[in-house]
Amino acid sequence: MQRLQGRVAVITGAGSGIGLATARRFAEEGAHVVCVDLDEPSGSSAAAEVGGLFVKADVTSESDVIRMYQTAFDTYGSVDIAFNNAGISPPDDDSILETGLDAWRRVQEVNLTSVYLCCKYAIPYMQRQGKGSIINTASFVAVMGSATSQISYTASKGGVLAMSRELGVQFAREGIRVNALCPGPVNTPLLRELFAKDPERAQRRLVHIPVGRFAEASEIAAAVAFLASDDASFITGSEFLVDGGISGA
Ligand code: NAI
Repeated sequence: MQRLQGRVAVITGAGSGIGLATARRFAEEGAHVVCVDLDEPSGSSAAAEVGGLFVKADVTSESDVIRMYQTAFDTYGSVDIAFNNAGISPPDDDSILETGLDAWRRVQEVNLTSVYLCCKYAIPYMQRQGKGSIINTASFVAVMGSATSQISYTASKGGVLAMSRELGVQFAREGIRVNALCPGPVNTPLLRELFAKDPERAQRRLVHIPVGRFAEASEIAAAVAFLASDDASFITGSEFLVDGGISGA
């Protein structure tokens, strides 16, 4: 399928997991892919693999975010798709009684403030084109909370969801669609690190997934490619769940 032929897509967190799988999928569908990551080796290897461009950037830095879109525009002439996906999981116990203020702030900064910045600086390009698709990675926990007690993470993803709805409604008449992607647990380095520290947590999670397994990143990428494409032309402001049935159980 070549649904994204010639479109310019900027993907944050493209060096690993969901971002990497989406870079591959977007390239297969004909897009010019700009792979953004803080981690140079993985980001540049992703870009090389998909024949795209690597931009080293920290998505919490306003100047870096401005620069990554400017580089995409200077190289390919437009910014059609923004997949704002980079995110972190808190390193330590994230229950409200244990999470310190610094850890809380760090998670909001990387998971939520970054999405604010990435939307703020992508939208003007899309306004000039009269068209664009923004997909922000939230999580199923934004919709239903988490049985594994992760307050700063869940709150940050709730913010991403609310912001995506707000922007989807606000910019609908300008041809800019904004959707929140809500994956269930996905087999990526982020999840594997979390579960390596707490194997029981993996088992608790698995029990709650109706399809009985974690998602592969390519299954999430397929949904992102759909949302990015004109096949999703009537979908905006949505919480797009790709969660193996968790939220319905
Ligand atoms: P991952 O850890 O495999 O990849 C995240 C990428 O983001 C890494 O390449 C990392 O270097 C990059 N990154 C981190 N901080 C950055 C920063 N400040 N600036 C630029 N790049 C940065 O993670 P995964 O699993 O692919 O997650 C991607 C997104 O999906 C995250 O927002 C995560 O919260 C979300 N998500 C993941 C789920 C899962 O089960 N893996 C479930 C639901 C949501």
